[in-house]
Amino acid sequence: MNTVRFARRPLDCLIEWQRRYGDVFTVKLLVFGTGVYVADPDEIRAMFTGDQSDLLAGEANAPLSMILGESSVLVLDGPEHLRQRKLLLPRFQGSHVKEFRDVIRAVAEAEVGGWRDGDEFPIRERMRALTFEVICRAVFGVTEPQRVERLRAALLALIDTGPLLLIPEALRRIPLGPLGPWARFRRRLAAADALLYEEIERRRSESDLERRTDVLSLLLRAHDEGGRPMSDLELRDELFTMLGAGHETTATALAFAFDLLLHNPETMARLRDELGSGDDAYLDAVGAETLRLRPVIDAAERTLTRPRVIAGYELPAGIRVYPGIALVHRRADRYP
Ligand code: HEM
Repeated sequence: MNTVRFARRPLDCLIEWQRRYGDVFTVKLLVFGTGVYVADPDEIRAMFTGDQSDLLAGEANAPLSMILGESSVLVLDGPEHLRQRKLLLPRFQGSHVKEFRDVIRAVAEAEVGGWRDGDEFPIRERMRALTFEVICRAVFGVTEPQRVERLRAALLALIDTGPLLLIPEALRRIPLGPLGPWARFRRRLAAADALLYEEIERRRSESDLERRTDVLSLLLRAHDEGGRPMSDLELRDELFTMLGAGHETTATALAFAFDLLLHNPETMARLRDELGSGDDAYLDAVGAETLRLRPVIDAAERTLTRPRVIAGYELPAGIRVYPGIALVHRRADRYP
């Protein structure tokens, strides 16, 4: 019952459970197993400072490795996670991120330029198209419209079969023939992989590789501390990870921003005014407040490798702990 309710209305369930049981409570869900939510910011800080060798982050994401691959930063833990993380990080720091602004602006202007007064459409679909295009250009470095479209068709078809991964392993093995969902999944995976490997190969032979600023080009030039470059398999997995982690999250957040702005005309009017005067501070505040009220991901996730005391409770090894992002965001003591 709890699994069905949580799948249908996750935020309402979390709020109700917190009201009934307080800031720390155990939830038993089908597929995801038993987990402990922690909604106290001080306890979360204590958990994430100091030694974290008993907390696994990648392990909880293991089912995703069927799409993202075994080398994905999202499914790895320990030294291998650190290696991938160090290779990825430089492109997402400081001045590098500013370089993405021009790409994002161009894609957003082209998208909104196609809208007409009076048109009606589900905003989330348009935001998915927009954030896919941004990732294609900024991360994959692919700009030719035809290639973008090929990638869009193949990669989104694969991502849209993602919920299949929640089906328990035993059921997945039931043979359903070439028309079954698993055969379809494998065909889509093979088609998406072929395109990604083609882009990696093409980029490697590009004469301006040294000057390019997209993430793939940076990763092709990167070496770890031992001087080892990334393998094609690692490159494929990280490209897919950034698409998987960055495309629907941002699309959903943007769609919620529109929803909240359209329901708050005063905020919308002020946002227009502030942007008109060239100041981005209010825009940043609107972004932060949107993510506070409508967090795209309700909780982080860690698996304990050893028993550990969290928020005063002795929790056994193997249990999942969920620092409750959505619940922390709604605390009146932090956000009056
Ligand atoms: C509104 C947008 C986004 C939200 C709400 C969001 C949220 C999150 C959260 C909650 C985590 C887990 C952190 C943890 O457990 O420690 C995460 C991890 C990650 N995200 Fe995002 N994210 C967003 C956008 C993006 C974008 C645009 C990218 C890349 C282009 C991205 C790439 C990643 C990666 C690679 C990880 C794994 C990091 C690691 O394991 O070291 N995310 N994100």
